[in-house]
Amino acid sequence: MATSTCLTVVLALTQICLALAYLPADYESRSASSKRDILWTQIGWEVYPADKLPTANLGAFQAAQALVPTFLTQAFNRVSDEMIEGRPKIFHTYGTCAKAKFVPASNTNFTGIFKSGFIGIIRPSLAKYVVDNHMPGMGFKALIDGKPSVNFHTLYSLDGQGENLNFFANNVSNVINGSHSLALQMAIKGFELALLLLPGGSRDRPENSNTMSLYEHSAINQDGSVVPEGTRRAPWRVDFVGPNAVQQNPTENVDFRIKIGLLQPNTTIYDVIGYRTKEQAQTQVGGEHMGSVVTESEFVASKYCDETLYMKHATKPWKQN
Ligand SMILES: *[C@@H]1O[C@H](CO)[C@@H](O)[C@H](O)[C@H]1NC(C)=O
Ligand SMILES: *[C@@H]1O[C@H](CO)[C@@H](O)[C@H](O)[C@H]1NC(C)=O
Ligand SMILES: *[C@@H]1O[C@H](CO)[C@@H](O)[C@H](O)[C@H]1NC(C)=O
Ligand SMILES: *[C@@H]1O[C@H](CO)[C@@H](O)[C@H](O)[C@H]1NC(C)=O
Repeated sequence: MATSTCLTVVLALTQICLALAYLPADYESRSASSKRDILWTQIGWEVYPADKLPTANLGAFQAAQALVPTFLTQAFNRVSDEMIEGRPKIFHTYGTCAKAKFVPASNTNFTGIFKSGFIGIIRPSLAKYVVDNHMPGMGFKALIDGKPSVNFHTLYSLDGQGENLNFFANNVSNVINGSHSLALQMAIKGFELALLLLPGGSRDRPENSNTMSLYEHSAINQDGSVVPEGTRRAPWRVDFVGPNAVQQNPTENVDFRIKIGLLQPNTTIYDVIGYRTKEQAQTQVGGEHMGSVVTESEFVASKYCDETLYMKHATKPWKQN
């Protein structure tokens, strides 16, 4: 079986990595900006030298663990900004981190952090580091005052974009198409078994492995206040669209972390287009400009960014309000 291929699959497993107890005991109760300062200090500890960026993929055994449902469910159940010690990151092994903020459109009708805006840490990554298939993805941690973070996991496509080396050539989204590859389809089955092991009924589970729901994001504001149920408004799908200014030469064969590393602080790295419903998303009708993602630091590729920073997956499915 093409194990290594299988493992490029699961959008949801964006941030499986190691956890060490670096965070102070009162970490969660702090303000978003204090939490970000703490994470940013750690990210700066062991920065990779530009000529020694790691590229090795995990061995088949570690990779095979990803197919064990109980292992996968931890990706949903663990509430922390750091990963459990000893767990290797299987997907999105390599990325690069920057401080970033979401600046909402002033007239937005979406709620929670889509309206309040937020600060956080963005991590563009490759789903898998392979020479002839570029697989852009992006994680975005939204830090909340006094409460656990909510996270975005996005990908272009499970099948990658082939030899196009422009990281921003395609949108990345929280909802992606299924794969054309049979091996990937089998890996998705393993992932969906993991979903069945989550606590709660089917209403409390993600819809499927290709849909990373944004409902929890619509339910909380950056200051930690809760948006009352019944008044929440979440997009079903969000497209993160790289503006012209960040587009890269698709044939320039330079590590993605170096290319992204050229972006200066205060760069609009993504425009955010939201579709309220599945029907609108699928017909690309009624997309709203929800805001933009702006960097607030340089990009740093480091061990903590790759191995410890953790982005829990949302578990609640999208609903009308
Ligand atoms: C938000 O809702 C109001 C009232 O329904 C509407 O007039 C406005 O156009 C909506 N804004 C957006 C961005 O769709
Ligand atoms: C990217 O997303 C925008 C907004 O949804 C859409 O208009 C555009 O067609 C998408 N681009 C591609 C290449 O799919
Ligand atoms: C996803 O599927 C839709 C509908 O079949 C298609 O229009 C779109 O191009 C596909 N997107 C990707 C990234 O393959
Ligand atoms: C960031 O960029 C915006 C728009 O390009 C500009 O108006 C603003 O002054 C910049 N801020 C800083 C701190 O450079």
